[in-house]
Amino acid sequence: MEINLFKFRSEDWDRFEVDLMNFEPVCYHQNLQWSKKYKKELFTSLDVIIFLAEVNHRVVGEAHCSKLDFRDFCDVEDFPGIKELLPRYESNETCYQNAFGVLPGYRGMGIGRLLKEATIHEAKKQGFRFLLGHAREGAAIGINKKFGARIIRPYEDFGGTGTTHYLYEIDLKKVK
Ligand SMILES: CC(C)(COP(=O)(O)OP(=O)(O)OC[C@H]1O[C@@H](n2cnc3c(N)ncnc32)[C@H](O)[C@@H]1OP(=O)(O)O)[C@@H](O)C(=O)NCCC(=O)NCCS
Repeated sequence: MEINLFKFRSEDWDRFEVDLMNFEPVCYHQNLQWSKKYKKELFTSLDVIIFLAEVNHRVVGEAHCSKLDFRDFCDVEDFPGIKELLPRYESNETCYQNAFGVLPGYRGMGIGRLLKEATIHEAKKQGFRFLLGHAREGAAIGINKKFGARIIRPYEDFGGTGTTHYLYEIDLKKVK
């Protein structure tokens, strides 16, 4: 199976819109799904790092991260306790993994790992020091730990999903 991993550019939105919106109901809990309007806004904004994985001209994996915006981040109730952690991240040096998913029929083949690796290297290249994200137990945490993720704290019933998500940090300086 040939996997085509590539960096998404904002002008690609129209071409990939259908594939990209397909991830929402298939990969993410309904409380964490993005509307088309919001996803388009994020995917076509500046300063985003997006990698897609294609198999047979179909997008089967996505990874999206962007500079952490503390004004947004601190206001949302999903992140109690985050304010105490701010001194460590309060700079332009931290990015946040907004989305990370592989379609069910394509999991366990290393696509998630490739996407994460590409994201990390690009974030490092752009001068970020930390990559933060929330991940569930299982493959999502497993992959991040392979890249040296440190768990900061659990968030029970994250975003009303009924599952615990763990806030993690990857220190990009330590990634080879
Ligand atoms: C998380 C997700 C993107 C992983 O994608 P994937 O393509 O299946 O991942 P990979 O095949 O690259 O697996 C990567 C590593 O994770 C490990 N892994 C897989 N399942 C695991 C599990 N249940 N527990 C621990 N580690 C696991 C694998 O061993 C693999 O490591 P290896 O390459 O050394 O064998 C995919 O499961 C997914 O889309 N899940 C739903 C959305 C989601 O949870 N996104 C994360 C944000 S919360």
